[in-house]
Amino acid sequence: MNVTIIGTGKMARALSTRFLEGGHSVSLVGHTPGKADELAEELKSTVKGGGSMAVAKENTVPGEVVFLAIPYTATREVAEKFKDQMAGKIVVDITNPINYQTMETSVEVGSGAEEIAKNLSVTSRVVKGFNTTFATPLTSGQAGGLPLDVFLAGDDTQAKLKVAQLVESGGMKAIDTGPLVRARQLEAIGLLNVAMQAHRGTNFMSVFKVIE
Ligand SMILES: NC(=O)c1ccc[n+]([C@@H]2O[C@H](COP(=O)([O-])OP(=O)(O)OC[C@H]3O[C@@H](n4cnc5c(N)ncnc54)[C@H](OP(=O)(O)O)[C@@H]3O)[C@@H](O)[C@H]2O)c1
Repeated sequence: MNVTIIGTGKMARALSTRFLEGGHSVSLVGHTPGKADELAEELKSTVKGGGSMAVAKENTVPGEVVFLAIPYTATREVAEKFKDQMAGKIVVDITNPINYQTMETSVEVGSGAEEIAKNLSVTSRVVKGFNTTFATPLTSGQAGGLPLDVFLAGDDTQAKLKVAQLVESGGMKAIDTGPLVRARQLEAIGLLNVAMQAHRGTNFMSVFKVIE
């Protein structure tokens, strides 16, 4: 699958690692000049797997699945900039919209994912996912010797199936939680996971798992 990741930070590195190991083609879209090239070179030399790594041409968002690996506060600007480029594509919102002063959600009504969908073309198919998986466990795709659970929410079943394929090919388990409105609960779980780090001292290694 051709995947594009907007962002070159911790989550971009972790997502790229999983997708490269899963045999996919990953393109990076950077913000600060040079950072995408730097990360692409690093991953080419460190990650084993059949996938290929590239940097997207300036002002383009290639690929059928696009990940927003940027702060929630940057999503409006990025959605506006790349609205046409992301039309018709699957857009995965991995963000946790958190006000770090209050440790509450920064979204007034609904979820960040629903707000992002409003800023995109109506033909973009938004899937919430990966917001409950911290970058460190995501890099290995495992926690406690078990595959990581990746919770997904979205209104388009085919889009969720595509993202689920990416998840499973990277050695993790996809859990479809229902329509995009479920992003409200996924964002609450993401916030809870962040908020409890200080109390439990788990250093951003904790994960949520469904035992069935
Ligand atoms: N870290 C985690 O464990 C984790 C877990 C689940 C979800 N998340 C979510 O994943 C997202 C990314 O987190 P992260 O930890 O990867 O953050 P990060 O390491 O700080 O990386 C953020 C990325 O966003 C880019 N960026 C910032 N402002 C931008 C703008 N206005 N336009 C375009 N790009 C911009 C940065 O580019 P420059 O560096 O060039 O400015 C950087 O590449 C966040 O929404 C976070 O809530 C994180």
